[in-house]
Amino acid sequence: MKTLGVGIGLRRSHHKDFLNGLPQVDWLEVISENFMSMGGHQENILNKILENYPVICHGVELSLGSLDPLNPYYLKSLKSLIEKTKSPWFSDHLCFTSNNKVHFHDLIPTLRCSESVDLISTKINHIQDKMKTPFALENISYYVESAHHEMSEPEFIQQIVKKTGCYLLLDVNNVFVNSFNHQYNALEYIKSLPLDQVIQIHLAGHFDRGDVLIDTHGDFVNQQVWDLFSETIKLLKRPVSTLIEWDNDVPEINILESEVLKAKNILGSIL
Ligand SMILES: [Fe+2]
Repeated sequence: MKTLGVGIGLRRSHHKDFLNGLPQVDWLEVISENFMSMGGHQENILNKILENYPVICHGVELSLGSLDPLNPYYLKSLKSLIEKTKSPWFSDHLCFTSNNKVHFHDLIPTLRCSESVDLISTKINHIQDKMKTPFALENISYYVESAHHEMSEPEFIQQIVKKTGCYLLLDVNNVFVNSFNHQYNALEYIKSLPLDQVIQIHLAGHFDRGDVLIDTHGDFVNQQVWDLFSETIKLLKRPVSTLIEWDNDVPEINILESEVLKAKNILGSIL
């Protein structure tokens, strides 16, 4: 898959920047649910962006780990958005966000067991059949571990990839945050993933409370996360479409542009 370069997640406070100019970013990721069944301003901003930038659809509501079946109306609406945006792939998270039709508005980790592998893989295979567009699965950050996991997260991801052939959206900040909070080696974790399947990388800032790292997406990318990104690119030995996520206390667009430039410089210095 051709790399798109380095982009940012589109946030409302930057709409004016894209309506009035051409910020120096290579591509944009949109939260799928914000643009499904849209009209008015949302449609205007998406149309404007599509004139100038590649767009990737990134969702939060597939709820792959939920016991609820996939929602056919949601899939239909997502397919329309993917077709409209010509998103070369689309992504969602390794988690569940709803169960028994209750929506949690949070990404909740699943139990890593063979039953979950089967449940999630069956859903991903169905989604890939319906969408006819490559799907990428993102690793999440989480704060509570279960004593009942049957396997490590890399093994869990390996098994899902083996059953589905799906791609990976590797969130390097999430790996770093989890590695501190759950006491494992971040680089060893990344080395254990099916790296050939990594189609996209996420970078974001987190908050260091001292005893715990909190995945806030509300700050500059931490230097240790930049270092882990560099090590990841050295392992991959190829450019990968990279995205800066900044969701809280979102700064002016020029700050995002400087983070994009930093990522581009790192990629350029390694490859
Ligand atoms: Fe992410």
